[in-house]
Amino acid sequence: MRAVLQQRYGSPDEVELGELPRPEPAEGEVLVKVRAASLNGSDRENLAGSPFYARIGGLRSPRHPVPGSDVAGVVEAVGSAVTEYAPGDEVFGELLGYRGGLAEYVATPPRLLARKPSELSFVDAAALPQAGCIALRATAGVREGEKVLVNGAGGAGGAMVIGLAKHFGAEVTAVDRADKAEYLRRVGADETIGYEDEDWARRRGAWDRVVDLVGHRSPYRVGRALRPGGRYLMVGGQTRILFAVLLAGPTAGLGSGRRVRVLVVPQSRADLEAVTALVLDGAVAPVIDRVYPLAAATTAFRRIAAGDNRGKVVVEVS
Ligand SMILES: NC(=O)c1ccc[n+]([C@@H]2O[C@H](COP(=O)([O-])OP(=O)(O)OC[C@H]3O[C@@H](n4cnc5c(N)ncnc54)[C@H](OP(=O)(O)O)[C@@H]3O)[C@@H](O)[C@H]2O)c1
Repeated sequence: MRAVLQQRYGSPDEVELGELPRPEPAEGEVLVKVRAASLNGSDRENLAGSPFYARIGGLRSPRHPVPGSDVAGVVEAVGSAVTEYAPGDEVFGELLGYRGGLAEYVATPPRLLARKPSELSFVDAAALPQAGCIALRATAGVREGEKVLVNGAGGAGGAMVIGLAKHFGAEVTAVDRADKAEYLRRVGADETIGYEDEDWARRRGAWDRVVDLVGHRSPYRVGRALRPGGRYLMVGGQTRILFAVLLAGPTAGLGSGRRVRVLVVPQSRADLEAVTALVLDGAVAPVIDRVYPLAAATTAFRRIAAGDNRGKVVVEVS
């Protein structure tokens, strides 16, 4: 089968189209014929091997040679212990270990896969899992009128966070490269901040919630930017800041009910189904930046490595 291969950590030049044997599903796995796979910030990190947590799947080189975590496709075969899916079922989801999706077939346990609604195209379904599940958790409990800041809003996942926060009635400030401002307004932001122009953390007591997709500020600095009772949720960013937030977050609330913590987003079928229901209700929609054929996977990675994508880059596999 055709597959995108990445043998080393590095630049998009490490990514090339190659051939691998078609996987056989184990007893508890389904074999999915992949129709589309989408790229996330985690794919950019897994390509570069940075931040350090991106090397959990292989310290010196990727243990699994095929990148790609979010897929949509058709069940081709099932292992003998699988009863919930049958060949021909249309499914989508995030793959365990965030790898394996950029290939014509992937064998995976079925517990993370959901049935693809017929209303969703394979491209839209592939764009949904990681970004949608992050957005669902990051906006849980947002109330009408809250001031929400999304840092790193212009990439793969930000638009879903903006969309759901707006759906729940928040006033949203989106932070990213200044030249993404028009895009951010188009996907629902009320205010935009170019990170080259202003440091949002200097606005003291400004936000009820900060969703940080690219955390690089100390927990105390971000704590001061919150309103009393507000919360800072670190979704991604620098490893040392991740540890700082884990260790010092509980004391960074400054005794005023502010909470500073890392948001761990589990890979969950229930969450995927919940956010898909919101999409089908029209509450929010996946935002597609560009769709590439499998043969152009290197170009797709170049786009996300440069941070030029506005929303999701999707690769049509077959
Ligand atoms: N917590 C969890 O359980 C969990 C689960 C899955 C994934 N994640 C993490 O979640 C993150 C997902 O983000 P994503 O997929 O949306 O990433 P992304 O596509 O890489 O988007 C990040 C955006 O942030 C912008 N940016 C870079 N530096 C910035 C700065 N200093 N200030 C503001 N914006 C900045 C980037 O723009 P430029 O590049 O143009 O500067 C880009 O538009 C990843 O780190 C991933 O590892 C976490």
